Amino acid sequence: MSGQPTALVTGAVGALAAPLIAELEGAGWRLALLSKGPVERLRERYPERSTASVDLTDEPAARKVIARLEQEVGGFDAVVNLAGGYAQHAAVDVRLEQLHQQLAINLSSTVVATTAVLPGMLERGRGTIVGIAGAAAVDGAARSAAYAAAKAAVVAYLRSLDRELAAQDVRALVVYPMGTLDTPANRDALPEADPSGWIATTTLAAAIVHAMTLGPRARFLELKVWPDPS
Ligand SMILES: NC(=O)c1ccc[n+]([C@@H]2O[C@H](COP(=O)([O-])OP(=O)(O)OC[C@H]3O[C@@H](n4cnc5c(N)ncnc54)[C@H](OP(=O)(O)O)[C@@H]3O)[C@@H](O)[C@H]2O)c1
Repeated sequence: MSGQPTALVTGAVGALAAPLIAELEGAGWRLALLSKGPVERLRERYPERSTASVDLTDEPAARKVIARLEQEVGGFDAVVNLAGGYAQHAAVDVRLEQLHQQLAINLSSTVVATTAVLPGMLERGRGTIVGIAGAAAVDGAARSAAYAAAKAAVVAYLRSLDRELAAQDVRALVVYPMGTLDTPANRDALPEADPSGWIATTTLAAAIVHAMTLGPRARFLELKVWPDPS
């Protein structure tokens, strides 16, 4: 890759986003940052960056916003799909509403952001599409059937893109945090738990950037990261 590499990062105000943005910028990437909530949150944290706010499940609006970011940055070498979410339901309570909600925030957000930048990647003849799955996509998880199904769909989607597009130098990277991330939200939600058994977001972020930039003649398609209690 010649020149400064560029990436679109979705879910850019999220917990994993902060260390990942720092890692990518430290490695010389120029970023465009996308969130759903008020864009001021992003602008305050990341002044002088290309930033925007849109609900990625609103496809026409998201395409318009991402096209503007792409023009500002001059094309994307990577899209890092961090937008996602979790909700817990007993199996008996999982109706279409709960399933569709999990599919929307985890799968639709990934599909919309990815397909918005894909034509540019194909034109440039290179691209990396990163998505975040989780242990539930592999092992299933109690009280998390809709979430697990949505993350498994993210995996199948990204692996399919990789099969279809690798010959054109557009690759997927599926990241599996194989445990809970040590985030403020998880600490609030699980006050009795011991966070020393959770995955540090800084370590995960460093691993993702390493996997995105490995080469030549070898690459990651999947990256599983386990907790390592200290
Ligand atoms: N935290 C964990 O333990 C864990 C474990 C396994 C996998 N993961 C996955 O890792 C990724 C990052 O996790 P995290 O803890 O950093 O998550 P997070 O703090 O909840 O951040 C996720 C971000 O996604 C954005 N988002 C959600 N729905 C969206 C939509 N429809 N359109 C646009 N943006 C949307 C949210 O934006 P707003 O804040 O603006 O609403 C939020 O900032 C997620 O995909 C998550 O599922 C997390």
